[in-house]
Amino acid sequence: MTMEKKICLLPGDGIGPEILAEGVRVLRAAAEKAGHSFSFEEALIGGAAIDATGSPLPAETVAKCKASDAVFLAAVGGPKWDGLDPKIRPERGLLGIRKELGLFANLRPALMLPELAGACLLRPEVAAKGLDLIVVRELTGDIYFGEPRAIEMRNGLRTGYNTMIYNEEEIRRIARVAFETARQRRKRVCSVEKSNVLETSRLWKQVVIEVHDADYADIELSHLYVDNAAMQLVRDPSQFDVILTGNIFGDILSDEASVITGSLGMLPSASMGADGPGLFEPIHGSAPDIAGQDKANPLATILSAAMLLRLGLHMPDEADMIEKAVRKTLQDGYRTGDIMEPGKTLVGCREMGCRVEERL
Ligand code: IPM
Ligand code: MG
Repeated sequence: MTMEKKICLLPGDGIGPEILAEGVRVLRAAAEKAGHSFSFEEALIGGAAIDATGSPLPAETVAKCKASDAVFLAAVGGPKWDGLDPKIRPERGLLGIRKELGLFANLRPALMLPELAGACLLRPEVAAKGLDLIVVRELTGDIYFGEPRAIEMRNGLRTGYNTMIYNEEEIRRIARVAFETARQRRKRVCSVEKSNVLETSRLWKQVVIEVHDADYADIELSHLYVDNAAMQLVRDPSQFDVILTGNIFGDILSDEASVITGSLGMLPSASMGADGPGLFEPIHGSAPDIAGQDKANPLATILSAAMLLRLGLHMPDEADMIEKAVRKTLQDGYRTGDIMEPGKTLVGCREMGCRVEERL
């Protein structure tokens, strides 16, 4: 069956355009093999959008994303725009598109591939136990978006404040995503919060337990305070299957989980809403220091294309095909600079994309 799918491409800044080109190369090839046809449309976001239009998220970009079946994003930001007013920084583009598309569920798998076990930052005996978890991070609430927020004068002192806030429905819907995700995996959810100190977290924990007891009794649910969770992640990450947490704790823990795998350049992510297109992007940033030099690792973007196919377009076989091709490329010894080891073949961004494509 042929299906016409529209994919909106957001190359963004730094290495964004080069890695996205390889992601699209592999996506196109996988679609062709499976007899699907995709159409691609590009739009501006982040620093590139600021340079062209003055805004990190032009209205035209939002419209193009909303009209698509899936959004494929590379990376935003760079030192060029660091000095700008916070309201027009590149990051605003990213936060804005999450909110506009209602992408409340951020799925960030952290997986140590056996081919890259040597790069893992943990002690060999800890690494040997394996690392295959997924952070399910709430993405459109919490202190990121809570009101009121400001920097203002209070009692003659400059005072900054933000609001950490969740309502029960926001907690319920992300908890459901975590439990559903766990059902496809090892059936364990660890909910992470700070309920020994914060009211928001006390409600979080209560609601997660309610959702669990009502509909997901087959899933094993545990709870950790965020400081303990950060510690357990480096002590023994093999204990985790699905980590369910809020926006800011998820921001921090997902960076931690991904870096200990030793291959930040390998990890994809998906952001999903209740309906409408999902957004798929590598978890790493725009690496301005190596932009335009054909040195970047495109594999996180290519693996994001696989998530796009699986979760965004419901094409699991095509997603598997891409993931297998990536594994085969690594088994055949091809490495970009960030994951290079003695005895392997060093390739650039473009060649890595081509090597994956030829293994599809
Ligand atoms: C991420 C990033 C963003 C976030 C920034 C760039 C706004 O760190 O996707 O994790 O904090 O969510
Ligand atoms: Mg982050």
